[in-house]
Amino acid sequence: MEFNQPAGQNLFDQSRIVGKPMPRVEGPLKVSGHAKYAFERHDVVAGQLHGYPVVSTIAQGRITEIDTSAAESAPGFRGVVTALEIGEMPSPFAWNFAPLFGGDRVSHYHQAIAVVVAETFEQARAAAALVRVDYEVEEGNYDLEAAWERAREDRSEPVSRIGDFEGAFAAAEVTLDGEYRTPGHSHAMMEPHATIANWQDGKLTIWTATQMVDWIRQSLARTLEMDPENVRVDSPYIGGGFGAKLYLRADAVLAALAARKLAEPVKVALPRPMIMNNTTHRAATIQRIRIGADREGRITAIAHEAISNTLPSGRGETATAQTRAFYAGANRLIVHHTAVMHLPEANAMRAPGEASGLMALEIAMDEMAEKLEMDPVQFRIINDTQVDPESPDRPFSNRNFVQCLEHGAEVFGWAERNMTPGGRREGMWLIGHGAAGAYRGSPAMASGARIRLQPSGRLIVETDMTDIGTGSYTVIAQTAAEVMGLPVEAVDVVLGDSAFPVSAGSGGQWGGPSATAGVYAACVALRAEIATRLGVENADSLEFVDGHVRGNDLDRLLSEMAAEGEIISEDTITFGDFRRDHIVSTFGAHFVEVAVHALTGEMRVRRMLAVCDSGRILNPVTARSQVIGGMVMGVGAALMEEIAVDTHRGYFPAHDLAGYEVPVHADIPAQEVIFLDTLDPVSTPMKAKGVGELGLCGVAAAVANAAYNATGVRVRNYPMTLEKFIPGLPTA
Ligand code: MOS
Repeated sequence: MEFNQPAGQNLFDQSRIVGKPMPRVEGPLKVSGHAKYAFERHDVVAGQLHGYPVVSTIAQGRITEIDTSAAESAPGFRGVVTALEIGEMPSPFAWNFAPLFGGDRVSHYHQAIAVVVAETFEQARAAAALVRVDYEVEEGNYDLEAAWERAREDRSEPVSRIGDFEGAFAAAEVTLDGEYRTPGHSHAMMEPHATIANWQDGKLTIWTATQMVDWIRQSLARTLEMDPENVRVDSPYIGGGFGAKLYLRADAVLAALAARKLAEPVKVALPRPMIMNNTTHRAATIQRIRIGADREGRITAIAHEAISNTLPSGRGETATAQTRAFYAGANRLIVHHTAVMHLPEANAMRAPGEASGLMALEIAMDEMAEKLEMDPVQFRIINDTQVDPESPDRPFSNRNFVQCLEHGAEVFGWAERNMTPGGRREGMWLIGHGAAGAYRGSPAMASGARIRLQPSGRLIVETDMTDIGTGSYTVIAQTAAEVMGLPVEAVDVVLGDSAFPVSAGSGGQWGGPSATAGVYAACVALRAEIATRLGVENADSLEFVDGHVRGNDLDRLLSEMAAEGEIISEDTITFGDFRRDHIVSTFGAHFVEVAVHALTGEMRVRRMLAVCDSGRILNPVTARSQVIGGMVMGVGAALMEEIAVDTHRGYFPAHDLAGYEVPVHADIPAQEVIFLDTLDPVSTPMKAKGVGELGLCGVAAAVANAAYNATGVRVRNYPMTLEKFIPGLPTA
């Protein structure tokens, strides 16, 4: 089914199941330990051996020798595969920017260079520690500040230039020119990357943890130079991804190579201490924002420049993405600099682009409002736009940002806020309130599904879609139940297997809207098949309700229809070009209250509110979980998360969740989430958009703005640790 025009009235507008709050269907399996994650799948193949990675201890250079002799006589040793014996392998995927394995080049610290296989995990780890590696070390470039200095001189080509930014900025009555810094972030998901690999008759099966089953299948085939038809990927449960599991990673390559060499099943997990440097991270950024406005607060000029670290083949963090479309203003300039550096691979992390960009832009908007002596919520409202500011003929498909701001301000009690920074105190605590806007694109991706109506009347939905903790199982079950007129309990959803139709996968907050649209398409195909079997020409003249199909003087139980054997239908939703005539995005407003200790600078987030505009919300329970999770991540980005860089040796010293701090329960206060009741007919047949990344966007800036309102200390450099406030705090 091609989605080739805006959705009109359809069955989701009278939905009984889609859009209703419902706890996740696989929840009981997860809390009881019956949902098996990749490393725990002991039953899928007998005799699994353990592989332990050996990783480079230099950031840049060449391997001259790998000596495995000591490892080979270690207890339980069964085999070893080295990068030198394998040689250079084809790059797995256009968006893998660092080689995962093979050859003598080291392109970043902790690159995988061997895997040692033994009978137990402990034996593999002990044997791996005995591998001796010699290198020729080369110099690398590890300092983003130095790259920024160079970039300022060599002036990259603008991504876009509209009107005369320089002239309008020079003429503006009120101006801001600010520089902001966001550090690198690590995904730090709960479940480490892990894969079990097994070969049989030249065919490879991996049980792994991935967001994108088909990407991984294609990538693994490409890097191993085999036919994708001979690779099977299975990933039914995933313990978080946040972008870290979008692309093929070393665990799968090492497991596949070791299993091939030993002709036995091998499992490999990336140990936590290797994940920060071996896998990907969100790039650090330095951003310069200039805004000019008239006295009434209308933006006349806006420029956003950003630089970020990337390996030579990478693209950098598009931290300017939202600034192209978020606020009005006739004269605009966007410049994207990439700093080629030899750090580990910078790549997508939850809301890549906007998450970092809004950390800067939404502080700049707060600063600008202050210069205008204007309420920062009002300043944003004045500069709303319903069309693409770069190309005013192109409207937003559905944009309700102003409603997010207004409704949020009312619910939060924004009017009670003290406009004077540092002006409100409760004992030793300085109290502040901050707001920020949220923006995140909402792409759609082709997505397929297979529906099998059973003689029992139950429905089985099969798709290679993943559930990375987002609620895919649940919204897919709701969708199929809705379209086929069955209760959710009559639907079994099976996910994550490459034997099933290729889905959108989980990334870029496209998963929920796209995968449910694919299931809708497959269900429509099943309805058509049932109509054909009933001799009814127009399937739309039939109603599917309460387990029955009715209409045209017929009334049959669905189970009866399948009495002689299951009925199978399959389809893929694709998205037509008409979508490109609009900007399809999601919007939100965040409100935060903080308390900052007047002497120590210790910060406590006290309450948080998000108002989200994401089209139809498929399930308010799972959507809310996504948003509050994003808000937690935003508090981390504001206050603690930072991958510090050793700019001398080119690596990230943090290697666990003690050195890389993320919020814990005690850091997180009351969170409230409101979904505006909106519909986006351009987005999908269900008029739904993504929400999982929106929840993070803007949060850190709202915290920063609240901290400024509390203390009068403006911090433009994340994370906002207490020493950045102390010099500006009151002395008593
Ligand atoms: Mo998301 S960073 O596309 O998983």
